[in-house]
Amino acid sequence: MTDFEKMLDEIRKTIRKEIAKIKIERDYSKFGIKFNPFPPAAIARYPQLPPLDEQVYKKILRFIASTYSKREDEKFGEYAGLSIVGEYGMGKTHLMKHIQLIIDSLNKSETEFSALTCFIDRPEDSPQRVIHKIIEQIGADNLRKLLWNVLIEEFQKDTHAFYEKHKSAETLIMSKKEEWSRLFIAPTKTNPLEFLREFRKLGGNAKTLEEDCRRIIKEKIIPDDVLAERYLDLLFPTKKGELSWDILAGYIIRKDIQRKEVQFLNSIVQILKENNYNMLYVFIDEFEDISKLSKIKLTNYLLTLNTLINRERHWAVIVSLTQDALTLIKERSPPLYDRLTSDIIQLKPLNEEKAKQLIINYLNLAREDKSEDIYPFSEELVLQMLKISKGNYRSFIRLAHKIIELSLIEDIRPPFTKEVLERLIGEEE
Ligand SMILES: Nc1ncnc2c1ncn2[C@@H]1O[C@H](COP(=O)(O)OP(=O)(O)OP(=O)(O)O)[C@@H](O)[C@H]1O
Ligand SMILES: [Mg+2]
Repeated sequence: MTDFEKMLDEIRKTIRKEIAKIKIERDYSKFGIKFNPFPPAAIARYPQLPPLDEQVYKKILRFIASTYSKREDEKFGEYAGLSIVGEYGMGKTHLMKHIQLIIDSLNKSETEFSALTCFIDRPEDSPQRVIHKIIEQIGADNLRKLLWNVLIEEFQKDTHAFYEKHKSAETLIMSKKEEWSRLFIAPTKTNPLEFLREFRKLGGNAKTLEEDCRRIIKEKIIPDDVLAERYLDLLFPTKKGELSWDILAGYIIRKDIQRKEVQFLNSIVQILKENNYNMLYVFIDEFEDISKLSKIKLTNYLLTLNTLINRERHWAVIVSLTQDALTLIKERSPPLYDRLTSDIIQLKPLNEEKAKQLIINYLNLAREDKSEDIYPFSEELVLQMLKISKGNYRSFIRLAHKIIELSLIEDIRPPFTKEVLERLIGEEE
């Protein structure tokens, strides 16, 4: 064979192999599973999987219980902040999503627990952007509904007074009082614009209604004039084409930013409270990104965030970051450090016991019947995977994914030995 023919032969073989890979029926049943449960890119795909550390588990339960139950105690001086500390790929995002899942599930199933969660992927470059993200997640439309609930509830407390107050004196349309009850039936009741339309039809006085709304917003939500006006605009948009979000976002500009931000966040929390949400949990992932900020921006960031956390008892912050970033915060802003670390969880590398448990937990996602068996993995393989991944969750899971795929394609019989791993590494090199 000439060199060229040899090369062609190689290519042919590779193509055949690739085609075989595609063709192969993805039948994992010989490994006792229905699919490969290890996420290929090792992203946090199954947040329901619990932490492997008993200590970590206890800490998160205590954190949720204490933040929630201390909320009404105004004398309580400490602020609840949880820092999840760990190096890259150690399971920070996963743990945050797990905590969020617990809170969301409690919120759905427990009547005495009502809390909202917001997950923010990165700290952005200012806390004010974090607030924007919070609104984005709640959704401006949702916020509008929640705010409207507050107003409607007030009106409904005394519909007679409402009629007397807002019937137009000189109107030609002499609607009867009974007809006004139409306003308080869905869908009119639940949609501010619909409500306004109907209200006008009934000859209601839009001016006094607006004043009334403004008064209630200032009494119940936020005493600030400018912000009250913004919220009014959110309910009854005046400028055509202006998005509701822009209306609110426009509030935080210019001078006095810190005070305004605090008020803005307070007002959001207040709207939630009025709707019987007692706690807002804000998760900020990849918090170490703040160490990339310039010195001035960082100082500003830490200062503002500290002010925010300091004043508001009805929200808790959970951040994830590396130890280096946490040390930086400690140096630059001791007060913020204290607040963010009222609870702290250090994520450690996998050890043998945790590695096995991790494998079992994933396999159980794909098994017909749950078991405590690491099969199709073998003990020696797990130890070898642990060694190569150095106990890093992401590397370990990635290896597990690839071992299953390789064994399927190459028709390797379980239990997989460490030779499979050697082959895998050989192929990658
Ligand atoms: N307790 C666990 N149970 C199951 N899988 C886990 C667990 N902890 C972490 N993982 C998985 O490990 C992988 C890496 O975790 P994760 O993405 O949370 O790490 P990270 O610390 O956020 O990494 P980075 O610093 O790169 O953001 C993910 O696939 C995640 O789902
Ligand atoms: Mg992460």
